[in-house]
Amino acid sequence: MQGSYSTLLLFGATGDLAKRKLLPSLYALHEDGLVAPDLRIFGTARSAMSDGEYQALAREALLQYLPDDRRDESKLQSFLDRLAYQALDASTIEGFDALAKKLGDISGGLSIFLSTAPFLFEPTIKGLDAASLTGENVRIGLEKPLGNDLQSSGVINDAVASVFPEERIFRIDHYLGKETVQNLMALRFANMMFEPLWNSQGIDHVQITVSETVGLEGRHGFYDDTGALRDMVQNHMLQLLALTAMEAPANLDSTSVRDEKVKVLRNLRKVAPDEMVRGQYGDGAIDGKSVKSYAEDFGKASDTETFVAIKAHVDNWRWNGVPFYLRTGKRMAERRSEIAIQFKCVPHNIFAERGGKLNANRLVIRLQPEEYVRLQVMAKEPGMDREGVVLREVPLDLSLTQAFSKAQRRIAYERLLLDLIDGDPTLFVRRDEVEAQWRWIDDIRATWAREEIEAKLYGSGSWGPAGSIALTERDGVSWNE
Ligand code: BG6
Repeated sequence: MQGSYSTLLLFGATGDLAKRKLLPSLYALHEDGLVAPDLRIFGTARSAMSDGEYQALAREALLQYLPDDRRDESKLQSFLDRLAYQALDASTIEGFDALAKKLGDISGGLSIFLSTAPFLFEPTIKGLDAASLTGENVRIGLEKPLGNDLQSSGVINDAVASVFPEERIFRIDHYLGKETVQNLMALRFANMMFEPLWNSQGIDHVQITVSETVGLEGRHGFYDDTGALRDMVQNHMLQLLALTAMEAPANLDSTSVRDEKVKVLRNLRKVAPDEMVRGQYGDGAIDGKSVKSYAEDFGKASDTETFVAIKAHVDNWRWNGVPFYLRTGKRMAERRSEIAIQFKCVPHNIFAERGGKLNANRLVIRLQPEEYVRLQVMAKEPGMDREGVVLREVPLDLSLTQAFSKAQRRIAYERLLLDLIDGDPTLFVRRDEVEAQWRWIDDIRATWAREEIEAKLYGSGSWGPAGSIALTERDGVSWNE
């Protein structure tokens, strides 16, 4: 069954993700009339709660997390009226019949959003199946973490695949819901000027940075067992890399786009031991305030990395010899997600004899917190040039925030929840992509273990350990900072 479904079921409905992102996103869709008036939203989690109590919890979360200009009391109430709740212990099969009873008639289609601890995936799928909540008119969205290596993600994917065919499985990577990430495709494929140069003839290297200023944020057990490589590189950063490096899909059809991304992911070269750096934040200062080290935040010493830098290569014709430098970390100097494309120099400098020095063009696609595309181009400084020609780098700026100032800024989950309800899988990750991502990541982790590569301390508020600078500097490259 295609098209918009009339029932949405949220697992983990009292958790942090639901409070911070899912409920505010659903409210925004409701407020803007983007979901059908008869869409019913059910929450489920362990705690016993009546519908009214869940609505009160949702109201509190919305008041806390919605921006002031998005709160409208009358719409808030009509949104809360859509919500109902059923308590469920997903580890046993017993409660699922009561859940199905509560949902009632799902002939208008059921979309499930499953965000749960990894050990609950299998029992939840079994419970849904036993209660006939897996039929042809049911699709399922899966939030990470979906396992922590290829093998364990395979177990989860097999369990889901035993009752849902791939076209009804929607794996979430919230970066794909970000407007600026989708804009990458528009930039590359809706403009003539970039694509002819978008290859090893025109590009020297690519840098992808996702830096955060936050630290552990109370996610003790999860984060320490996961680390930056699996928390950020395995999913978000590899998706950014795939969108940057893929060939042009024939159209925006989900198969065409995902076919092109997976080719990139499969062609990632194994990373050599000297092409990666692990780090862990020590104490330091962020925005003038002193912050504790990871070990202090965590409560004991640990070798988990909160920073990783990698020199990656895509082994195909287009990208031969073009490094992709990736880095991500917590407690860094700035919160910033960006892709920087460093073009090659022009083949011959006609200004050289008159003293004119040239820098190669650089295109920076800033995804957050600001949203812009900036091209550094060379221009001549105004003057009579009696003392020689002075050339200077000037930015050609496209601020997306300004150019589209009237457009509503949206949380990534708004787009993803709407696509889940409407059944469009283009911005979700297919199983073969996830597996290609894990294969590459597992190999890196095996190298870390084999070569005993330890996490090096870096000061909070810095750009990571010294090794990260050395990783690019020895190629004559500086990080875009
Ligand atoms: C999540 C990670 O997937 O992405 C977090 O688990 C991280 O550790 C977050 O903070 C970053 O997302 P965003 O949208 O704030 O860049």
